[in-house]
Amino acid sequence: MSKYLVTSALPYANGKLHIGHLAGAYLPADIYVRFLKLCENEVIYVCGTDEHGAPISIRAEVEGKTPQEIVEFYHQNILDSFTAVDIEFDNFSGTARAEHHKLSQEFFTELLSAHKVTTKTTKQAYCEHDNRFLPDRYVEGDCPHCGAAGARGDQCDACGKLIDANLLINPICKICGHTPVIKDTKHWFLDLPAFADELKEWLENKPNWKDNVKRFILSWIEEGLIERAITRDINWGVPVPLEEGADKVLYVWFDAPIGYISSTIEWAKKIGKPDVWKEYWFDENTKLIHFIGKDNIPFHAIIWPAILMGQSKKYVLPWDIPANEYLNLEGDKISTSRDYAVWVEDFVKDFDSDLLRFVLAANAPESKDADFSWKDFQNLVNNSLSNVLGNLANRVFAFAQKNLSATVQRPKEPNRLITQDFIDSVYNDYSEFRVRKVTKAIFDFARDGNKYFNDQEPWVTIKTDISTTQDVIFYCADLLRVISIILFPIMPKSMKRLRMMMKMNETGFGWKDIWQVPEVIEIGEFERLFRKIEDAEIDEQIKRLEGKVKNS
Ligand code: MF3
Ligand code: ZN
Repeated sequence: MSKYLVTSALPYANGKLHIGHLAGAYLPADIYVRFLKLCENEVIYVCGTDEHGAPISIRAEVEGKTPQEIVEFYHQNILDSFTAVDIEFDNFSGTARAEHHKLSQEFFTELLSAHKVTTKTTKQAYCEHDNRFLPDRYVEGDCPHCGAAGARGDQCDACGKLIDANLLINPICKICGHTPVIKDTKHWFLDLPAFADELKEWLENKPNWKDNVKRFILSWIEEGLIERAITRDINWGVPVPLEEGADKVLYVWFDAPIGYISSTIEWAKKIGKPDVWKEYWFDENTKLIHFIGKDNIPFHAIIWPAILMGQSKKYVLPWDIPANEYLNLEGDKISTSRDYAVWVEDFVKDFDSDLLRFVLAANAPESKDADFSWKDFQNLVNNSLSNVLGNLANRVFAFAQKNLSATVQRPKEPNRLITQDFIDSVYNDYSEFRVRKVTKAIFDFARDGNKYFNDQEPWVTIKTDISTTQDVIFYCADLLRVISIILFPIMPKSMKRLRMMMKMNETGFGWKDIWQVPEVIEIGEFERLFRKIEDAEIDEQIKRLEGKVKNS
């Protein structure tokens, strides 16, 4: 059996976590990992905060703090948000840690000695007002590719293209607003063209990757690979391990993905087997899977694999890169700067975290941008969760308690509500990252359960035929038992509660238990599985957002 190493994009430690982050790179990964674990695969899930680069130092300047203070605050804040919605990493590290610095420098040095890194003197935006170079996000302007305003010196959010900052139209300094001048500076460049053939060959063997990812990569390669600067003129980051580069740091996008490895190393130490990380990274059979948002595709599908290929040790390359599109909010782009977002830490104060997981899964931006609206949220929770699944559980449990001493025996005939085909299709959809489909299928399944209960009219048959009636209730309870397994990756807390109501173990169960039909199902204490969400609660949330739009 192969081992899985699952990662989610390292979030920048420069802001709080919102539902768009969750929907793109974290929830899909957590669901996938929980599914793999249910199926008894060997899997670890690593992540950490991305603590370098302009995003962090700009934030520090804005808040009048040191980058280290910013990083410490947001590392904890982000981790707390993940914990609150049951995103469960095996390790959550940070790239400002010593082990990570050491490894990143090693990666750089290896590329240098393999002649895959070259130096060049280039022109760079420089602010004479602030007396400093303006790499990446320190300079903003109009995108030279699509013309959109507000493009940053590293990437345009509107068209997703990476940008040569010197080509920005009407550039301004992010710190003071002045127009920068252009000055010479020396930098180290990753020789991407040298990896072109190896990259192409490797990518040709990835026919199953998602279309959005393949399309992006193809257009990148068609445009021709160019050398990319991997050092920067700022003082926050991993120092360039060379005397002549002492005043420069490695580019954040060079060191950040190495964080996947340093986080795995940290995990290995944590569990007391310091060498076990090598069994993941140096085994070509490891399935290395990077969950990311679409803006991260070029870094993960081209630059990062090239960095790995350039090492003398043979690291495993990504097996899949399931990138997601964006999540909008009430039809508008989520915006951190306008505070136009639903923050995870706020959401969990008002609602159960499983509700968020469910709605973001049902409406995942898998192949196109999706939208979160509070009305949809209310409808989905009230109609699917409460009326379908919650209602089924309530009816079945209440009936069993009132009429069957809360205990039903396994009938002789197997449960025809549960088919191998259905279970297989859910299995395949989870395996191939189709969580929207999984969610829909499970709720159709629960609907079938409700229909069966109605059609069988147990409240009528109980008066004349206890045996048939108890069979009907067993089949319904058994269907709920199966749901408690197959919906667990999406709604872990609620499914544990559902199992508890049926006096079943809350941990240690797995996919194979689907076919281990118990001889008896006993109903314990139960309560409503999902509460209804009132109009007033939704109105309040919508009002909060309206203030944000107006203030922009
Ligand atoms: N911090 C980056 C972002 O939020 C993602 C980094 S992913 C990694 O867009 F590969 F660098 F880890
Ligand atoms: Zn300036």
